[in-house]
Amino acid sequence: MNNFTRVFQGTAFMSKSPIEIYILKDHLFCVNESGRIEKVVAPEDAKYQTILDVNQDKLQRLKEGQYILPGFVDLHVHAPQWAQTGTALDIPLYDWLNTYTFPLEAKFSDLDFAQKVYQDGVSTLLANGTTTALYFATVHKEASLLLAQICAEKGQRGLVGKVVMDNPDQTSEIYRDVNTQTALKDTEEFILAVNDLSRKTKQGVYPVVTPRFIPSCTDDALRGLGELAAKYDTYIQSHCSESDWEHGYVQDRFQKNDAFALHDFGLLREKSVMAHCNFLNDEDADLFRETGTAVCHCPISNAYFANSVIPIAHLHSKGVEIGLGSDISGGFSPSLYDNARQAVISSRMLEDGVNTTLPADERGVPNSRITINEAFYFATAGGGESLSMPIGRLTENYAWDVQIIDTTVATAKLPIYTENEDLNDVFQKIMYLVRPENICEVWVQGVKVHSR
Ligand code: GUN
Ligand code: FE
Repeated sequence: MNNFTRVFQGTAFMSKSPIEIYILKDHLFCVNESGRIEKVVAPEDAKYQTILDVNQDKLQRLKEGQYILPGFVDLHVHAPQWAQTGTALDIPLYDWLNTYTFPLEAKFSDLDFAQKVYQDGVSTLLANGTTTALYFATVHKEASLLLAQICAEKGQRGLVGKVVMDNPDQTSEIYRDVNTQTALKDTEEFILAVNDLSRKTKQGVYPVVTPRFIPSCTDDALRGLGELAAKYDTYIQSHCSESDWEHGYVQDRFQKNDAFALHDFGLLREKSVMAHCNFLNDEDADLFRETGTAVCHCPISNAYFANSVIPIAHLHSKGVEIGLGSDISGGFSPSLYDNARQAVISSRMLEDGVNTTLPADERGVPNSRITINEAFYFATAGGGESLSMPIGRLTENYAWDVQIIDTTVATAKLPIYTENEDLNDVFQKIMYLVRPENICEVWVQGVKVHSR
C-alpha cells in the first residue's frame, strides 16, 4: 500500500506564515525511505485509521506532553570558536578577533585538536535541536574537510566553508592563507572534496565559498571566490556591515557599502547568506532582495559586537529573506531557542528605545518589534528559504528534520497545568522555556541523530 519507513503520530507546530503558527493536532507524519515526509494526515481524513492500522509496526506515537517542531536551521556558526564560547565578550570586535579568535583558529592546523572541538560542537548543536548548520571552519583545508566529515557521520546537514583570509594588511602571519593563489586553489579542492563526500551522505553536506569578511580578503581573492561560486554553483557566506568599524572600513576602501562591494565581486547570489547586516540601508536591502541574498540575524552576538540593534522587522518588510544564527562564539549560546528569545527582546528595545533621558515618543524606532512566532519562523522556514532547501516545515516533500519536545521532563518541566491548555500557549511556553533536557529526540532526513 505504501513504502513508509516510519509513521509518527502526534501534535506538531510549524509556521503557517511569518506571523502565524500552524497547529497540526494529532496528525500522522508518514516518512519514506529517502527521509522525506510523504504524507501528512489529519485525524478527520478518511484514510487516517487505515494508515494507522496498516503501519502499526512502523508507528511512533508521541507521549502525552510531547510535541514535534521542525529542526532548527542555524545560518551562522564558527565551529572552531566552540572552544572559546562564553569568553572574551567584553572587548570590541576588532580586538576580539585579533586577540582571541585568530590565535584560536590558527590552532586548527592540528587535526587532533580540530577533531575534539568539532565532534563536541556538532553534537552540541544537534542536542539543541539544530538539524542544519551553515559553518565557518578555518583557513585550513584539511581541518575544514574534517568538519564536513563529522557532520556527515553524525547525520547533521552541514554546509561548511573553508575560510579565506589572504589580506596581509588585516591579518597576522600566524593565521592567514599562504597567498591568494593558494587560497583559491585550496577552496576549489575543498569544494570538490565536499561534493564527493556529499554523494555518500544521506542528508547531504555542502561546500560553501567563504571570504571571512571584506577586510581580511584582497580584491583578487574576492573576485576569484565569486568565480568559483559561479563555476560550481555553491553556497556563499560572509560577514556584512556588522559593526561601525567593519562597515566604515569597507566604505573607506571601496567608497560603498559592503552589499554593493560584495556584489561587484559576484558574491551576492541566490545561494548567498550574509551574517549580521546591521547597517544595511534601503538600497542595500533592495540589492539583497533582487539577488536572493539572505540576511542571517545573530541577535546575541549583535548585542556584543554590532554596536546597534538590526532593524529586522524593516528588512523583512522589504522582502529580504531572513534566517537566524547563533554566531558561536560572538554569541555565547549554541541554542536557537536562546537566539529566538534574544531576537524578540532586542526588537522590543529597538522599538521602545533605551535612553530614558529622552521623551517616550523620541526614544525608539516605531514598528520594530517582532513576535516569538516570527523569531520561530526565522529559525525554521526562513532558514530553509534562505538556503532554498525543503527544510524547516512539516509539509509533504520536505525532509523529516524534526525535534521532539517533552514538556514533562522532571528537571525541566514546563508550566502546563490545565488539561487541554490552548496549544498556542503551549507553543509559546516551548519557545521561551525549552532547555536541552526537553529535546528528547532529533531527526535529520528520517534518521534519529540524537536522543536523551
Ligand atoms: N567578522 C569577521 N570574523 C568574524 C567572526 O569570527 N565573528 C564575528 N562576529 N564577526 C566577524
Ligand atoms: Fe560570525
